[in-house]
Amino acid sequence: MKRSKRKNCTALFAAAAVMLAAIPGMQAFASSGAQPAGGTLAEAADGTYTSTTQGFGGDIIAEVTIENGVMTDVKVTGDSETPELGAVAVAELPEKMLAAQSVEVDGMSGATISSNAIKLAVASALAEAGVEMEVSAESAASLAEQTAEKTEETLDVDIVVIGAGGAGMTAAITAKQAGKDVLVLEKMPYVGGNTTKATGGMNAAETHYQKEQNIEDTVEQFVEDTMEGGHQINNRELVTTLAENSADAIDWLDSIGAPLPKVSFSGGATNARIHAPEDGSGVGTYLVEAFKKELENQGVSLLLETKATELILENGRAAGVKAESATTDYTIHAKAVILATGGFGANEDMYTSYRPDLKGTVTTNAPGATGDGVVMAEAAGAALVDMKEIQLHPTVEQNTSIMVTESVRGDGAILVNQSGRRFVNEMETRDVVSAAELEQDGAYAYIIFDQRLRDNLKAIEKYADAGIVTEAKDVSELAEQLGMDAAVLQETMDNWNKAVAEQKDEEFGRDTGMDHDLSSAPYYAIRIAPGIHHTMGGVRIDTDTEVLTEEGNAIAGLFAAGEVTGGVHGGNRIGGNAVADIVVFGRIAGQNASAYVDAQK
Ligand code: FAD
Ligand code: FUM
Repeated sequence: MKRSKRKNCTALFAAAAVMLAAIPGMQAFASSGAQPAGGTLAEAADGTYTSTTQGFGGDIIAEVTIENGVMTDVKVTGDSETPELGAVAVAELPEKMLAAQSVEVDGMSGATISSNAIKLAVASALAEAGVEMEVSAESAASLAEQTAEKTEETLDVDIVVIGAGGAGMTAAITAKQAGKDVLVLEKMPYVGGNTTKATGGMNAAETHYQKEQNIEDTVEQFVEDTMEGGHQINNRELVTTLAENSADAIDWLDSIGAPLPKVSFSGGATNARIHAPEDGSGVGTYLVEAFKKELENQGVSLLLETKATELILENGRAAGVKAESATTDYTIHAKAVILATGGFGANEDMYTSYRPDLKGTVTTNAPGATGDGVVMAEAAGAALVDMKEIQLHPTVEQNTSIMVTESVRGDGAILVNQSGRRFVNEMETRDVVSAAELEQDGAYAYIIFDQRLRDNLKAIEKYADAGIVTEAKDVSELAEQLGMDAAVLQETMDNWNKAVAEQKDEEFGRDTGMDHDLSSAPYYAIRIAPGIHHTMGGVRIDTDTEVLTEEGNAIAGLFAAGEVTGGVHGGNRIGGNAVADIVVFGRIAGQNASAYVDAQK
């Protein structure tokens, strides 16, 4: 028997809340079902029972099968839950419930709303079978709080920053340093966004680190590399601003205790320009930690799990934002608003609306990268640019979506196809390398490196921990494990090592990332293919980070920085340029929003 009924969750939660108040530790769902409640599983009729509740992103549907007094199947669907949080709860909680024969199992940390909604949906489906399932006072209280009547709150600040990724935190710190009263909104339970995932580093030219290491580079070359990588469709003024302020941005990072002294090559760069932490750790977690500390030191206000939903405009000027948390609807009045919500690489509906060909492609992005800022800005009259320009990163492990940083190639790794042969200059720009991979048999490749390289790059330990690295004592064993002809792979490795020794890659013309050969066993491989990585398009800004309309007029009081904006990276972003983007333009947004606030007084 299949029965389906949609419940009014608010009423159901309210019932739970009332009962909780009356009887601590009550059976929260006793009154929720249409069937007479109070029964046990043992008394329930065989059948499949369904219920729908509201999760974090949309409907959660539970389907529970009871046979001979036992739950034999629990299926939960919740396609709109946040990929790395609620979606994990959707995948994991049913199994736990089956094992426990109970809805009262541990929820997923960071996904409280989804976890509670799943518990409620399953309990509610059981109630359809007349089964009353105990829910702990703690869970019921949290369910009740989640759905209790929301309070309304009005706040007044100088500047509200939407999004606590790298651009938002940089802007907030800068504005606070300028003496402004700043509030940061972040929809996730943690700060960092895509910035946390950044691994390779930050591009900057004419820095003191380059000079100290005798690396010759110029702002002009940085501009030309970025324009060339971006297929010349970038906004040259924005690119020039990026390059001209990059060395200063490195100095600023020094000043907040986040030096990036390790300089190397990234794809598409003429000179060694990508700056990373001394110890080889990922640039993103390192910077986010430093930004977080600085926000705390400066006493910047931050509201987590609070999602901005709409910009407030008054007489054509940005005057604040509406936002919501699980318990509160906020109206935030601000003299200036800084949009720093990141890109939309985690929103399949949105990116396939611009690029249907990308349907089903894995993404490297953090779950918060859903394009909210683009939608809010467009509704406020902002122009959008380059929305179809979406970058594929060439080295993404497809089962885990883990991006293998370009630094692995920059430090000497090569790519081979299933035949064990190289097929491209691995240090070409990402669009070129990704396209070359897609032309190989099976549309995948392997990135090959050795022990010396592993010892030099901390990120590789993360890949090893995730179980995506194949290890072999020599080239022949590696070939065997990868199902390749050992003689062919050996020939490829010998040719490559010769090219490094002679500093001449006859086959593909590679001329960077050739400081070390691949001769130190053991050898390693990771199977990779392209994945969605960066959305180059977004809100149109000028070099002052003011948001522009289609007519090219600034929307007064509205500033934007980081991946929410378009124009800096054109048709293809160079590795290391996004972190440069968020620090350079985040600082400019913080400075200019502060100056704008001063001018209003
Ligand atoms: P994010 O860091 O994504 O921050 C945006 C924040 O806004 C998020 O926390 C999000 O939850 C929040 N938010 C969104 N909507 C709302 C809303 N409605 N209300 C409140 N909050 C909201 N670039 C480099 O230059 N070098 C690298 O080495 C590098 N490595 C990368 C590795 C990976 C795996 C990925 C995915 C990207 C990498 N990038 C790298 C790109 C770079 O990390 C990003 O482009 C950049 O960090 C984006 O910063 P941001 O501040 O604009 O956005
Ligand atoms: O490959 C990487 O480390 C990514 C760098 C980037 O996106 O800039």
